[in-house]
Amino acid sequence: MNLILIGPPGAGKGTQADKLRDDFKLPYVATGEIFRAHVQNETELGREVKAIMADGGLVPDELVLELVASRLDEDDVQDGFILDGFPRTIPQAEALSERLESEGRHLTAALLIDVPDEEVIKRISGRRVCVKAEHLYHVDYDPPKNDGVCDQDGSRLIQRDDDRPEVVRNRLAEYHDNTEPLIAYYDEQGILRRVDGTRPPVAVHDHIRAVIATLKLEDNV
Ligand code: AP5
Repeated sequence: MNLILIGPPGAGKGTQADKLRDDFKLPYVATGEIFRAHVQNETELGREVKAIMADGGLVPDELVLELVASRLDEDDVQDGFILDGFPRTIPQAEALSERLESEGRHLTAALLIDVPDEEVIKRISGRRVCVKAEHLYHVDYDPPKNDGVCDQDGSRLIQRDDDRPEVVRNRLAEYHDNTEPLIAYYDEQGILRRVDGTRPPVAVHDHIRAVIATLKLEDNV
């Protein structure tokens, strides 16, 4: 099963991917998370993308494609994956299709988690992540048991650098300009599945699981 998650920043892609990888035992590849690790570790790539990410811009396609191509060479993703945050532009989507086709594979579905901009802003402004493993919380919707401390690994909770309001506006603009066209692109291919992301996380998860169960029946995945 080769799944991609599409949706605006803060739609809940990471929240849902976390549940889906447990449900379906699929490896999870999140380009944002990989880039943030490069920035944190001050690698050459990290230095190249740091300012772009801090401004809420998109990393240039050639850098993203190089990173994803080498990740897709690894053994764990040969039988399926959940991609979060990639593709984010039409050229990225085309490169992914070509790559999969060359291996006799195809995307099973593009899952769109749909959330309006006002809700995105509420979610992102309250999001907290742990410094150790990016476990996710929300100050109102999903608070930790102890203020500022991760329930899962005890590390400190912080606000992501790119979650500042002025950066969120840029991230939303990038989404509308460059990523939204993927909705029509995958719809035309018949693999788009829309999920109402405004409902509570459990309801969104139930919907996605039902979608995947149907796909399994239809496609014999
Ligand atoms: P990335 O890390 O991919 O960020 P994003 O797409 O903006 O998505 P987020 O991680 O912000 O949100 P999410 O949808 O995962 O929501 P979450 O589950 O955390 O990318 C970061 C940057 O990297 C980009 O800006 C770009 O610079 C670069 N980049 C990455 N990939 C790239 C690519 N392919 N091309 C070019 N550049 C690339 O949830 C948000 C909050 O809401 C949480 O607090 C959560 O607890 C809460 N929440 C979740 N679901 C619900 C719900 N149903 N109800 C209420 N609250 C909820």
